[in-house]
Amino acid sequence: MPQSWSATGRQSLRKGVSLRPGNPVNTSWLMSLEPKQLSAVLFQSLKPVLWTQPLTSWQLQYIQELSSRRLRRMPVQYILGEWDFQGLTLKMAPPVFIPRPETEELVEWVLEEVTQRPGLAGAKGGPLILEVGCGSGAVSLSLLSQLPQSQVIAVDKGEAAICLTRENAQRLQLQDRIRIVPLDVTLEGSWAQLLLWGPMDLIVSNPPYIFHQDMEQLAPEIRSFEDPLALDGGEEGMDIITHILALAPQVLKHSGSIFLEVDPRHPELVSSWLESRPDLSLHLVAVRKDFCGRLQAVTGLLSCLFRPRFLHIQRSGPQRDCPVDARPGPQPTSVPY
Ligand SMILES: C[S@@+](CC[C@H](N)C(=O)[O-])C[C@H]1O[C@@H](n2cnc3c(N)ncnc32)[C@H](O)[C@@H]1O
Repeated sequence: MPQSWSATGRQSLRKGVSLRPGNPVNTSWLMSLEPKQLSAVLFQSLKPVLWTQPLTSWQLQYIQELSSRRLRRMPVQYILGEWDFQGLTLKMAPPVFIPRPETEELVEWVLEEVTQRPGLAGAKGGPLILEVGCGSGAVSLSLLSQLPQSQVIAVDKGEAAICLTRENAQRLQLQDRIRIVPLDVTLEGSWAQLLLWGPMDLIVSNPPYIFHQDMEQLAPEIRSFEDPLALDGGEEGMDIITHILALAPQVLKHSGSIFLEVDPRHPELVSSWLESRPDLSLHLVAVRKDFCGRLQAVTGLLSCLFRPRFLHIQRSGPQRDCPVDARPGPQPTSVPY
């Protein structure tokens, strides 16, 4: 057996060794990409007592297989087959969109608003929420798990996404409060079936919002493995966003809210698009920067080209003509952008 193949588990995983004789690729490079996650899964198959023992050929094969997937630029979330979001462990499978940490901020904003504004909680003690583009179910399932009275209708046009959300809901025992519906929001009349469940208190979505011309700049991990339909929002990233907004008044209750994750260029685009559609009675009431954007504002150092922001859009209710400051109850949190 070549020398490098007799490496111990500790050497292979901690220091990095050349797994294939004559192959210059060093696993330390691989590990430096996501050392914690990859090491964690690799170590899972090794009892501590074995860390100083030579690896078996099965273990080497296993490490080699995982390493070669990573070297082909497969995202670590797909290699591991699961990923954490808001404290939930979700199954991941290509090509379903991998939930990003910034989307946790969208969930946190919704939770904050529901807690602070009882009107959003709905008549049944918890809100009825529609999620457009549920992917793996990350957003819907975390809202369900943190709002025990809530109910969610999760829609997606991708079959793989629908199946994965179903599987994740079952794994987390949340299947009784979620309806998972295959639905393409760009198809006329597609929303009619949603009316069966009554007007929604909230719509939440992390839609495909990347500007089409920016798609080429995405990392190879994203371009080669994730569904482009989950990312590409068309010329100005607004294709799905405008469909959601145009259809929202049909399913949203009066004074219901829409929370969206968007590109940093979208607050202005969405605002002027809404002005051009007064018939929808939707108003952009608040914008939030994500963590990176907030840090940039303080340090001025970071480049945040693709950093999203979050929008809160409200349907005019009975208080339609009230100035924001004169509305009763807690005000929407407004963060200047
Ligand atoms: C950016 S991913 C978000 C997934 C998930 N909500 C998350 O944050 O991890 C966008 C999702 O929207 C779905 N989608 C794209 N176009 C759609 C359409 N026309 N109708 C419904 N869903 C759509 C995609 O399949 C994808 O799962």
